Amino acid sequence: MRKPIVAGNWKMNKTVAEAQALVADIKRDLAECSGVDVVVCPPFTALAAVSEAITGSQLDLGAQNMHWEGSGAYTGEIAPPMLRELFCHYVILGHSERREYAGETDAIVNKKLKAALAANLRPIVCVGEQLADRDAGRTEAVVEQQLRGSLANCSAREWTDVVVAYEPVWAIGTGRTATPDQAQEVHAFIRSVIRDLADDSIAQTVRIQYGGSMKPANAAELISQPDIDGGLIGGAALDAASFVAIVQAAL
Ligand code: PGA
Repeated sequence: MRKPIVAGNWKMNKTVAEAQALVADIKRDLAECSGVDVVVCPPFTALAAVSEAITGSQLDLGAQNMHWEGSGAYTGEIAPPMLRELFCHYVILGHSERREYAGETDAIVNKKLKAALAANLRPIVCVGEQLADRDAGRTEAVVEQQLRGSLANCSAREWTDVVVAYEPVWAIGTGRTATPDQAQEVHAFIRSVIRDLADDSIAQTVRIQYGGSMKPANAAELISQPDIDGGLIGGAALDAASFVAIVQAAL
């Protein structure tokens, strides 16, 4: 059985003070959530404060991006050991907004993936098609290419730390969610590609989150699909009540 994983991607939102307030509310309302891995991913500037606030709770910390080098002349970047120092255990990689606005390619995502795994950070690797791809019947081709490029050369041990997030780009921040059937179809396909990249037992254990306008009203139906193992939540993660309701739906 795969343990569900729900992660809040706060994107470029929340000052330190706002982040502390949000995580305090989440912590208070999620006293008991041992059946789900719950991760909060604040912006870099709030990682230290949120890390301190969640000490001793069941919440886990994630970053939204990182560089692949351990240190060096990369102005404006953050290295894996800097995240580890703050007790970060997860890092979102290859989010569609990074692919679109920061030019991240599958090759770059793969470098980051290898660096994250080497630093004992669990990567949440995002894939997903644009609306034009879906309309042209290219969803599986696009997702497969992203998976093969981003997840190349993982050892069996490394696979155990990998989380994949399927985020159809047309559903992110649009209020337009994939239907449970649409999402399940792509999740099953992603699992079949992992089977091909690794093997069947690894494919059965890798967790695949759905992301894209997930909210309390649609979370239970999405997460109850056989190949959907949780959610990567954007907008609804900025509100403690909504985020907690989604975690409870996953429970
Ligand atoms: P959304 O974002 O929930 O606001 O659609 C999801 C994401 O981009 O991770």
